[in-house]
Amino acid sequence: MPLVREEVQDWAQKLESESAEAVLRWALDRFYPRVALSNSLQIEDMVVLDIAWRIQPAVRVFTLDTGRLHQETYDMMDRVREHYGIELTVLFPDSAEVEKMVRAKGLNLFYNSTDDRHECCGVRKVNPLQKHLAGLEAWVTGLRRDQWATRTDIKKVEVDAANGGITKVNPIADWSWEQLEQYAHAHKVPRHPLYSKGYSSIGCLPCTRPTQPGENPRAGRWWWEDDSKKECGLHVARS
Ligand code: ADX
Ligand code: SF4
Repeated sequence: MPLVREEVQDWAQKLESESAEAVLRWALDRFYPRVALSNSLQIEDMVVLDIAWRIQPAVRVFTLDTGRLHQETYDMMDRVREHYGIELTVLFPDSAEVEKMVRAKGLNLFYNSTDDRHECCGVRKVNPLQKHLAGLEAWVTGLRRDQWATRTDIKKVEVDAANGGITKVNPIADWSWEQLEQYAHAHKVPRHPLYSKGYSSIGCLPCTRPTQPGENPRAGRWWWEDDSKKECGLHVARS
């Protein structure tokens, strides 16, 4: 049974000081198989997958293929399947929606304006995500509080109001980059090759650039836009 808002809030309080493993164990015990991990192939999601897979080797994992990812990200999808022996469900945008958008605004509309960029993220990421979440009672992310100003308040367990009130689980909300690196190294977690080419946050190819030492790790995402706009709608409802 899905949890109602009050139950989620109750669990959120109880689990806030628990480890990532304890939070994932709770989510898998409570919701499996109606819970899935979202995985962008970045280090955060790889670490969450590694912890969850040790608890439930048949854990459900999905990735959003926007059609604009780096070749290295597609290579990672195959590596993840091999390394963990899991299916890794790939979600695609609706082809009619993509066709309509591209016919009206071109393939590279994201550089035109923030509205056009949001339209592209909506068609290629948010709509396929929302469709997939409609069949679940809970989903898991690799969000961390210290990634960006819009993320400082996330809880380890939340109500996802933008997705029908299902439960959203952020087990590494309080982890630092150093903790991630340590876990990934100790457990030989497959690593996205773009990290060694200067990337510190990895999204779609046309919307991600490497960062310089000292820059905010998220500065390479949609770098031509204001800092206040660096979200795509997966985690912050579009206005
Ligand atoms: S984004 O909103 O800016 O694109 P970001 O790259 O920081 O998101 O990733 C934050 C979390 O969103 C990830 O830990 C993961 O849970 C989810 N996510 C982002 N991109 C994808 C993707 N392509 N497929 C599945 N989940 C994703
Ligand atoms: Fe489109 Fe860029 Fe958003 Fe990817 S990140 S969906 S290419 S606007």
